[in-house]
Amino acid sequence: MKKIVLFASGSGSNVENIAKYFEEKGTVEIKGVFCNNPNAYVIERCDNLGIPCRVFSRNEFRDNLEILNELRELKPDLIVLAGFLWLIPSAYIQQFSDKIINIHPALLPKYGGKGMYGHHVHQSVVDNKEKESGITIHYVNEHYDEGQVIKQVSCKVEPSDSADDVAAKVHELEYIYFPQTIDELLNA
Ligand code: GAR
Repeated sequence: MKKIVLFASGSGSNVENIAKYFEEKGTVEIKGVFCNNPNAYVIERCDNLGIPCRVFSRNEFRDNLEILNELRELKPDLIVLAGFLWLIPSAYIQQFSDKIINIHPALLPKYGGKGMYGHHVHQSVVDNKEKESGITIHYVNEHYDEGQVIKQVSCKVEPSDSADDVAAKVHELEYIYFPQTIDELLNA
């Protein structure tokens, strides 16, 4: 059975969606969720799903690389960033080259980079009167949102759409395509 771990910083609706997808299929084991935010709702979701959630500090992540050691022990086939907001240090990229993927809620290279996450992305899309937005699933490198693109899917943005409307459309795409893409990568 393939093993994955997930990283999240906030609500964790993608974590829950991915967990339910693979629970049904029974082909992939989620070894754990790693969370940098002690107040994130994803912690409660993990509790309800029966998935171990490891909450960690900046020091454990960047300085003493405790989290990297834990990942080495877990030996995941894929590390999935599902709404995770910290930059991944290069030691992780070197250790797990081509095994770390991220989802971004826009059509990169547009609306990417530091500070471009969640609502900020959708508000910028609306402010710039874009006619479309969407999702980008990509490999992770040392720079925010710059790794090789694996999949992009777009959705229409209507002139009357609010940032929340765009967020809802983008989330819908994420729930369909993120688990599928993970599945495909694990079976490639
Ligand atoms: C998702 O829309 C994801 O694409 C985005 O955060 C949201 C997390 O939602 N990620 C980024 O903005 C990364 N730059 P969730 O916590 O409900 O899964």
